[in-house]
Amino acid sequence: MRLLVCGGAGFIGSTFARLRLIEHGDEVTVLDKLTYAGREENLHDLHDHPRFRFMRGAIEDPAAVSAALEARAPQAIVNFAAETHVDRSIADPDAFVCTHAFGTYVLLEAARTHELRFLQVSTDEVYGSIEAGTFTEQSPLRPSSPYSATKAGADLLVQSYFHTYELPATICRGSNNYGPYQYPEKLIPLMILNALRGDRLPIYGDGMQVRNWIHSTDFARAIGQVLERGLPGEVYNAGGPDEQENIAVVQRIIELTGADEAQIEHVEDRPGHDRRYSLSSDKVRALGWEPRVRFADGLEQTVRWYRENAWWWEPIRSGAYREYYERQYGRSLG
Ligand code: NAD
Ligand code: DAU
Repeated sequence: MRLLVCGGAGFIGSTFARLRLIEHGDEVTVLDKLTYAGREENLHDLHDHPRFRFMRGAIEDPAAVSAALEARAPQAIVNFAAETHVDRSIADPDAFVCTHAFGTYVLLEAARTHELRFLQVSTDEVYGSIEAGTFTEQSPLRPSSPYSATKAGADLLVQSYFHTYELPATICRGSNNYGPYQYPEKLIPLMILNALRGDRLPIYGDGMQVRNWIHSTDFARAIGQVLERGLPGEVYNAGGPDEQENIAVVQRIIELTGADEAQIEHVEDRPGHDRRYSLSSDKVRALGWEPRVRFADGLEQTVRWYRENAWWWEPIRSGAYREYYERQYGRSLG
């Protein structure tokens, strides 16, 4: 397949680009704005590949999208491009509205004009929080944050293009991803790096919030399965095999890094913090997908990856991330 992967310089998009290029023999063009979270380093091993092409551009810019479509005439657009951090959406929702609403609209129009398949990468956060049980694709959308509300808006727009214009579009909603190349504003890489560096481990509130962890390679494979086998107009959830309380994840990271429990610091809770996420993945399993990485193994591998790849995270920790960290946590990084 010839694919246009929007947001492919981010954490999951680069994992997907690598998987499709190397394991499936696809031709991959990445279109990415290179925000603070998008980095060409995430694609370092792909740049010289003959079937790979990187183009810098924003999905809300029709000229950039047209240029990417003309370059290699893709058969499908897979949209990962997004602002992805809930805390940043609470501090400043502006870019979230622009990228998720207008950016998705520009891509949908391009897919309609060029008669392309469209896959929107979405999130379990559109369903909101669930105290008991699991969300299915039929669960109502009750997003809590500007991040999840704008992602839900994008999903509805995608569905409207299927109903109105018969655009062959699918949506794949994932649970919390972890793995290599994840920007260290997110819980797992933040805690790994702070643990390794002897910094505080800031836990929001009581730390008893539950997340349904999925390894990024498993989510990337689920997206591939939906792209190849999903029915137009359908939504597919892809949740990981393990649910964990945040505090338990941090305690395991402390064990794996040899850090000290005294580094844990309970800090002010996130406003509107969702207590628990849980996804039923029966529908995508029926397409032949299942998660391969158990959380215990995946977390150990992820800690090892961050230990061995300081070249990747050192420039982040010494750059603009320091200012973000100070604003968010009211203290500087060590
Ligand atoms: P990320 O923040 O690591 O990467 C996002 C990428 O999108 C970056 O490369 C960034 O430069 C690019 N981007 C942002 N705005 C853009 C724009 N306007 N135009 C072009 N490119 C733009 O995010 P991620 O964790 O890899 O998430 C990828 C997708 O998966 C997102 O749509 C997110 O909502 C979804 N998702 C993430 C998770 C998770 O746990 N990380 C779980 C489920 C779904
Ligand atoms: O569920 C899917 C979503 O998972 C994706 O759609 C989002 O893009 C992704 O960022 C992630 O959202 P979360 O808000 O769940 O992830 P985050 O890593 O920010 O936080 C995970 C949990 O850890 C959450 O309960 C908040 C908590 N937390 C997070 C940070 C950064 C802390 O306790 N301390 C922290 O410093």
